[in-house]
Amino acid sequence: MSLEKAITVEINGVARELSAPANETLLDCLRRHGQFEVKSGCEKGDCGACAVQIDGEAVDSCLTLAWMVEGKKVTTLEGLNDADSPHPLIAAFLEHGAVQCGYCTPGIMIAAEAMLRDIPDPTDDDIALALSGNLCRCTGYTKIFTAIKQAAEVLRAGGGDD
Ligand code: FES
Ligand code: FES
Repeated sequence: MSLEKAITVEINGVARELSAPANETLLDCLRRHGQFEVKSGCEKGDCGACAVQIDGEAVDSCLTLAWMVEGKKVTTLEGLNDADSPHPLIAAFLEHGAVQCGYCTPGIMIAAEAMLRDIPDPTDDDIALALSGNLCRCTGYTKIFTAIKQAAEVLRAGGGDD
């Protein structure tokens, strides 16, 4: 028997009441509640496909139990986007072909956005470190690095502000 726990959490700026078995991962819980932009990959902390931000910090949701986000703010790729004004990372990834199959993309953008708040003008080493937990099987990373640098430039110039 697994006890259900009620969880009060803010997801992408919206207050939500979730219910989850005590042993359910945040990954499974988010997807069960419709957040399909959070991808399931290795489910053991190796690929980063499941990355979300908890109170602004990128974490693997497959290694986090759902109840641990009680009272916190969770951000997924959906929370970075705005239909009227796409996040500069999203625009840059599209412009530079940094999305191929796209399976890694939500986790990579979540990790990159968290890095850019701390390091507005990242070097290649900064980006490599920030993405060290994110695997991409398609792009070879070059286009991803180019896109992140372009997004950083746009953000430094004040783009992407609402
Ligand atoms: S699915 Fe979480 S790190 Fe791979
Ligand atoms: S674009 Fe396919 S895994 Fe990264």
